[in-house]
Amino acid sequence: MEEKYLEAKRTLQEYNQEHLLNFYENLTEEKKEELLREILSIDFKQLENLYKGINSTKITSGQKIEPIEYVDEAKLTEEQKQNYVQKGKEVLKSGKYAVITMAGGQGTRLGHNGPKGTFKLGINPDKSLFEILCDKLKKLQIEYNVITPWYIMTSKENNNDTVKFFEENNYFGYPKEAVKFFKQGEIPMIDKNGKILLTEEGLIKEAADGHGGIFEAMFKNNVVEDLKTKNIEWIFIGPIDNPLVQMTDELMIGYSVSEGVLATGKSIVKANPKEKVGVFCKRDGRPSVVEYTEISEEMAEETDENGELKFGESHINCNLFNIKAIEKIGNDKLPYHTAFKKATYIDTEGNTIKPTEPNCYKFESFIFDAFEKIDRMGILRGSRENEFAPVKNAEGVDSPETARELYKKYYNI
Ligand code: UTP
Repeated sequence: MEEKYLEAKRTLQEYNQEHLLNFYENLTEEKKEELLREILSIDFKQLENLYKGINSTKITSGQKIEPIEYVDEAKLTEEQKQNYVQKGKEVLKSGKYAVITMAGGQGTRLGHNGPKGTFKLGINPDKSLFEILCDKLKKLQIEYNVITPWYIMTSKENNNDTVKFFEENNYFGYPKEAVKFFKQGEIPMIDKNGKILLTEEGLIKEAADGHGGIFEAMFKNNVVEDLKTKNIEWIFIGPIDNPLVQMTDELMIGYSVSEGVLATGKSIVKANPKEKVGVFCKRDGRPSVVEYTEISEEMAEETDENGELKFGESHINCNLFNIKAIEKIGNDKLPYHTAFKKATYIDTEGNTIKPTEPNCYKFESFIFDAFEKIDRMGILRGSRENEFAPVKNAEGVDSPETARELYKKYYNI
């Protein structure tokens, strides 16, 4: 351990992060070991570069951003719809379909005490977001007599609480063996001066590395291998915080199969040019998503010959992948984006700092940065009322209250 301590100290000196050992002596032997392990696994060079890049110009500079073609579900003929739905049903019935729910986020804006999926929406009967999603798989089980594997991505921070919640609720009556949890990666959080933060326990303050960490996590945790063993061909990857998420969308599956695409992204029409959402686009000719912070006001307002926004296909984090697309994406790290967030930590004197305003940087990769690796990707426009009831903020827009209303309206309850 002595050797590890010295090695950690040398590294910290090199990168000006010596404060991480300030409270080392107060830790138990076990925690000392944990802290050293954490320090020795940090990629300091990468963090240094990320910190340097925080205020650099946006990544779009020099890149060609163009509108992307899409198919509008509402404009399909009845015959087309029926054909797609029929094909989709066949896939669902064949058992070659799986669902992954991304539930590794911190849910800081919602401020719920516990994993976001354990949040109860307040419908009658009251159900957690996890149970609401599970109901969709149970429906499939009844309709098609098929048990769809359900993978849940958690993080180091919320994995134990998530698994416990499923155990306590008897997996909501879904077969336990069909549910698998896997943890995504973490990355340290830093303050405004580039210093890595410590938790109240005296360990490294880490946060989940964004939903883009999913592919690396799938490979590392043998999820890809498991999917292949089960002969799964299509995998829906979606969020935990949208109770209207269409995880078993027959039309989307059938469209993907019939059109021979390797992935399909579901879009909904951007509510107005100023709405703070990312939209599908072509980036240097490849499928991508451009964030609202990345495009100029002028681009955001551009319309086509039908008067529709040229950049109007909002990405709602509901995407379907063929297993071949996942293999193509592989486990390389996706680029990190920076977010300024609130985080409790201990300062260099050992005082606990509980911020009321954002105080530190978090680095996250985004799932859509992987789209450019997919040769054929379809964009399918769905309808907002049928697909989207986000639970993001504690109140106001995209809050439990708005989601509840949308949910009730959709299910007519
Ligand atoms: P958001 O980007 O809205 O983040 O996640 P969040 O963590 O839920 O909430 P805030 O930003 O801290 O308030 C969209 C979806 O991606 C998942 C979330 O769980 C949610 O389903 N996600 C996000 C992850 O699985 N891992 C991450 O690192 C980030």
